Amino acid sequence: MAPVPTRLNVAPVPPDEIFALNGAYFADPNPQKVSLGVGVYRTDDGKPWPLPVVEKTEKVLAAENDLMRHEYTAIEGDVPFLGLARDLMFGFESGDGDKEAKARIASVQTVAGTGANHLGALFLAHHMKPRTVWLSNPSWANHMTIWELAGVPRKTYPYYHAATRSFDFDGMMNTLETEAEEGDVVLLHACAHNPTGLDPNKEQWIAIAEVCERKKLFPFFDSAYQGFASGSVEEDAWAVRYFFNNKPDMEMCVAQSFSKNFGLYGQRVGAFHYVTNRSATSIRDIVVNNLCHLIRGEFSMGPRIGTTIVKKILTNDELIADWHQDLQVMSSRIKTMRQALYDELVRLQTPGTWEHIIEQNGMFSYTGLTPKQVYALKDQYHIYLLKSGRASISGLSEKNVKYVAQAIDYVIRNIL
Ligand code: LMR
Repeated sequence: MAPVPTRLNVAPVPPDEIFALNGAYFADPNPQKVSLGVGVYRTDDGKPWPLPVVEKTEKVLAAENDLMRHEYTAIEGDVPFLGLARDLMFGFESGDGDKEAKARIASVQTVAGTGANHLGALFLAHHMKPRTVWLSNPSWANHMTIWELAGVPRKTYPYYHAATRSFDFDGMMNTLETEAEEGDVVLLHACAHNPTGLDPNKEQWIAIAEVCERKKLFPFFDSAYQGFASGSVEEDAWAVRYFFNNKPDMEMCVAQSFSKNFGLYGQRVGAFHYVTNRSATSIRDIVVNNLCHLIRGEFSMGPRIGTTIVKKILTNDELIADWHQDLQVMSSRIKTMRQALYDELVRLQTPGTWEHIIEQNGMFSYTGLTPKQVYALKDQYHIYLLKSGRASISGLSEKNVKYVAQAIDYVIRNIL
């Protein structure tokens, strides 16, 4: 029988590094293995941590037995949830407060932060047609994929100064000043930059906002760690709120994720907020309407259960206080582990400087380890991190931090 050729024209694409690494970690039978790959919170026992406030809320919801809980929502998603998500991001009064400011924002529910980034990219590709999107070098690898799929040409601005392991503010500003053009999109990490853990300080954010406004660039914020990074939802939203409040003639948008700050990774809770300038609030409903058109053609509406949990928490003062407590637990454990790794490396007199580990912010540390050293950590010690040297600090614990430090000490001394 003659073979029948396929009609497809497909070539393999490289697997997603983060999830491929996670799969390899799970498949590894070695009892000493350590996962410093995917950015998920883990307890000191290396276990997932459903937030106590989420577990409490799940019980309340189960008792309420709402018959609507499995029904469709509107295409834009769970509307009360969207109001709460917006208020959390922009720092608005709940209820009828801050009416004028709220009128600038068009919000829709998305499939978590990735979905918000994707929907935003698609929306801008259709309706703004930017010539270029500027991503930080490095950035979360999925940003590259998302904008590639949206068909917008990508360029990078310098972000990381390898020699000093610090934020390359001058490099970033210089590129935006000299190369970015009116209408270009600039992707910014609202806090806890992924993968470097290096954020601009407030003065630097003010300068970034100024260049965006003056050069008519379009800021696109990715906010995946609000409250998780510093423990304070206000502090972690500072940059977004500064741009919003101080540059009211500028349009911008925010992709908001609830995966990390509520520990709702698999529920895919997110929102996309398009911010009109203060003179263009009349287009807000048309923006929502067009976003709904894209949503309907792709997934009809975002999923329900996670938004119901978040909504319940954000409308109850006691639960809000519990949530803030949980954020403190997560952010302080990460800070403690940064310090513990740093202390161990100093104690071992591991060659090099390690201050960056305690100075970086959020889930990740950009360790400065080379791809060969990263490979040796996996091959010889069963320690998994990204080949860029990004380590998810949450995978460290009191039990494994000495082992990890010794392994790093070995590869630093023996492998280039
Ligand atoms: C990460 O960067 O590890 C996380 O944000 C998970 C993901 O979706 O990539």
